Amino acid sequence: MNALTQLEAETSIALGAPVDVTIDAVAKDFGDSPALFGVSLDVRAGELVALLGPSGSGKTTLLRILAGLEAPSSGRVLFGGEDALGLPVQDRNIGFVFQHYALFRHMTVFDNIAFGLTVRPRGSRPPKSEIRRRVLHLLDLVQLTGLEKRYPTQLSGGQRQRVALARALAIEPRLLLLDEPFGALDAQVRKDLRRWLREIHDRTGHTTFFVTHDQEEALELADRVVVMSKGRIEQVGSADDIYDRPASPFVFSFIGESTLLPVVIEDGAVTFSGDPTGLAVNEAERREAVLGFRPHDVTLVEDGAPAIRGRIVATRRHGGRRRLELQVGPDHLRAEIDVEVGDERPLGTLIGFRPERWRIFPA
Ligand SMILES: Nc1ncnc2c1ncn2[C@@H]1O[C@H](COP(=O)(O)OP(=O)(O)O)[C@@H](O)[C@H]1O
Ligand SMILES: [Mg+2]
Repeated sequence: MNALTQLEAETSIALGAPVDVTIDAVAKDFGDSPALFGVSLDVRAGELVALLGPSGSGKTTLLRILAGLEAPSSGRVLFGGEDALGLPVQDRNIGFVFQHYALFRHMTVFDNIAFGLTVRPRGSRPPKSEIRRRVLHLLDLVQLTGLEKRYPTQLSGGQRQRVALARALAIEPRLLLLDEPFGALDAQVRKDLRRWLREIHDRTGHTTFFVTHDQEEALELADRVVVMSKGRIEQVGSADDIYDRPASPFVFSFIGESTLLPVVIEDGAVTFSGDPTGLAVNEAERREAVLGFRPHDVTLVEDGAPAIRGRIVATRRHGGRRRLELQVGPDHLRAEIDVEVGDERPLGTLIGFRPERWRIFPA
């Protein structure tokens, strides 16, 4: 028995069968400003993917196109191999949760969750007793049993979003679209809800798109992460792929704290502003490149040995370490490195360091 039929058996919640989703060269222009440039992505039935990117990268636009709230300028969307763009919103069978998905304030939790079923046309509307049974099972699934008579204002932010998810699940969706659902909540609640959502997903197996601009949330929650920037997909991969094998300087810097410096590769040596850094690559040809490293991945280098050198312009406490901001090279670029807390060199001191773990990207 798979997870879906098991859940149906356990709770007798009928669930829409999850679908494969194919996004094929989907572009969207608003007037003459493009929001998406030919985005393509295949998502397997039951997969939980995170769309991760800074504000304005096109995440919500892509979600709205999947939902049928927005038509693409070009490209195709397939659900289970069939054209979805011809389907009106109400026939797409999609559950949504948005960041500020206002629950109906004048309705109880019960009525909010039941809403999508009670507004169905008579022919497809389940009988009242069946709706009641489903709502109570969903309340159990989202761990809000006993709160069905409350009104939204009598719930915490986290509880409201759980009601919103139950409401989205009530319509037996084939696809779940969650647009920054925890974005308005505080850090600890977000963390709890993240784990909780993952558990629910493992039980229900819906094909799910989860939009976030929080890299930690995306990496922890999703089977695959889709990193977006400026209307394009920069990389698709597992958390390990994205973190350890970033496809571009953008992904590298978006996914964690980092410094990017322009370097030249010459005779197998990585040089910065004309000086050897002590880093070597297996390449003979001279070329310009970008060196990326993270603040915790560097070691200090004694005077004289090859290193990247910079002057301390700022220091601050950073978790268990001390973070130094350095001015490096003739163009006064900034680099950030972590040192021991006891290291209390004054501002203005010149120090040398070398990345222990680092990446070279094309310039
Ligand atoms: N209805 C709209 N009209 C005009 N421009 C829009 C509209 N919706 C989104 N955009 C623009 O499209 C781009 C992508 O927006 P959006 O999809 O909301 O990004 P994200 O969700 O990643 O923050 C932005 O530049 C935004 O200003
Ligand atoms: Mg958005």
